[in-house]
Amino acid sequence: MSATPKVVRHQAVQPMFDHLASTCEGLIAVDRDSRITWMDDKYKALLGIGIETDVTGRVVEEVIPNSLMRQVVTTGKPILLDLMEFGSRTFVVVRLPMLGEKGEIKGAIGMVLFDRAEYLKPLFFKYSKLQEELNRTRRELAGERQAKYTFSQFLGISEQVRQVKTMARRAAQLDSTVLLMGETGTGKELLAHAIHAASARSHKPMVSINVAAIPESLLEAEFFGVAPGAYTGADPRGRDGKFILANGGTLFLDEIGDMPLAMQTKLLRALQEKEIEPLGSNRVVRVDVRIIAATSRDLAALVRSNQFRADLFYRINVVPIVLPPLRERTEDIDVLAENFLDVFRLKTGEGHRELDPSALFMLKAHDWPGNVRELYNVLERAYTLNESSVLTAQHFMPILPGCTPPPPSQKAATLKLSHAVSQAERTAISAALIQAGGNKSQAARLLEISRASLYERMTALGMLSGD
Ligand SMILES: Nc1ncnc2c1ncn2[C@@H]1O[C@H](COP(=O)(O)OP(=O)(O)OP(=O)(O)O)[C@@H](O)[C@H]1O
Ligand SMILES: [Mg+2]
Repeated sequence: MSATPKVVRHQAVQPMFDHLASTCEGLIAVDRDSRITWMDDKYKALLGIGIETDVTGRVVEEVIPNSLMRQVVTTGKPILLDLMEFGSRTFVVVRLPMLGEKGEIKGAIGMVLFDRAEYLKPLFFKYSKLQEELNRTRRELAGERQAKYTFSQFLGISEQVRQVKTMARRAAQLDSTVLLMGETGTGKELLAHAIHAASARSHKPMVSINVAAIPESLLEAEFFGVAPGAYTGADPRGRDGKFILANGGTLFLDEIGDMPLAMQTKLLRALQEKEIEPLGSNRVVRVDVRIIAATSRDLAALVRSNQFRADLFYRINVVPIVLPPLRERTEDIDVLAENFLDVFRLKTGEGHRELDPSALFMLKAHDWPGNVRELYNVLERAYTLNESSVLTAQHFMPILPGCTPPPPSQKAATLKLSHAVSQAERTAISAALIQAGGNKSQAARLLEISRASLYERMTALGMLSGD
């Protein structure tokens, strides 16, 4: 009785095989060593090999580079429907093992199916869509590895901004390591891109890595890459780390103050040796990258509390650039605000909008814990919530102070008493100015102080600059 299933199977499979063989566009057979034993003329024509060429005895991959016949011979398992690239063309292929009497593998047979076959159209369609998507992602990735900003986009007329830009321009030409320090939203990332764009490496990649955003266990792989087959579950082809991706260009280490100590040690070694070792490999790779690091944390304090290695700090603190908080350069608010309004106008296609002096007073009185990013967001909200062509302080009232609590990292700074007092003074003065319609004498009366001391306070609080 044991022969029955085999016979039935044979009866079922034979017609399918015959059908495939008769409609197929090419037929190939290999032996158990994956050497070609036979290839029909149609297949040769498809591959662009002369019909008279004898390919028997040759290793299959020599003739068809992407062939998976060896896999079928090794595993004994068929690959029933697959797509195979050959040059710029894609073939639909079927690969079956050839088994002997006792089930031993004798070789394999491969067929190229008619690629215009109706029933394969959905598969082809899906494949070409995926291929398109892959190509687009690749293009986007290449774009991402370029500088997004230049110095001209770093706006500001204050002396502080002028100095920052002068230093950054000089650093760009020197190829030295730059450390950008400043509160959140002060433009560290923008400046890092601008430095790369103005450097001799601008035509090479700019690769960023946000240390704070990556789990500690993945940092090393992210930095140094993973060798092929390094460990179970790893991508069998391996993966390049950011050092390799940035080779020849710039590596932007964002939030470096958040780097765990163990990783700091490994980074320091890489920077000193100018060599990296991908995970699971015993081979070192030489790398040539320019480092730009950024942090919103007080690195020197982290060094003092042993949370940041002193030797790594000295290695990256070659050209330190401190980005001043917005509240210390309120004269930049006009130009930033104007520029952002232009951005929104272009985005929405609406008409020109401007800020009333009362609105500017109010913006200059604000503390801006989120700095330029916060200014951008506040303006965007005022812009979207109101249709008026002139935005006044009234429009900003519901959006500004009190409503936006400072992020946790900024709380320590805002707890200082002197700071709280200045903040209260700013709020009172701008409220008085608003009520007085910008008339300073009247505002002074409302505040029950002299006009002179109002001027004095406003100058001290940076509320008069650029006015
Ligand atoms: N001087 C500037 N001129 C124009 N736009 C600026 C300026 N500074 C910052 N911005 C804008 O403010 C936003 C925040 O800037 P960026 O991301 O560079 O800040 P950051 O210092 O890296 O902040 P974080 O520490 O939170 O990462 C961005 O949209 C940036 O374009
Ligand atoms: Mg940043």
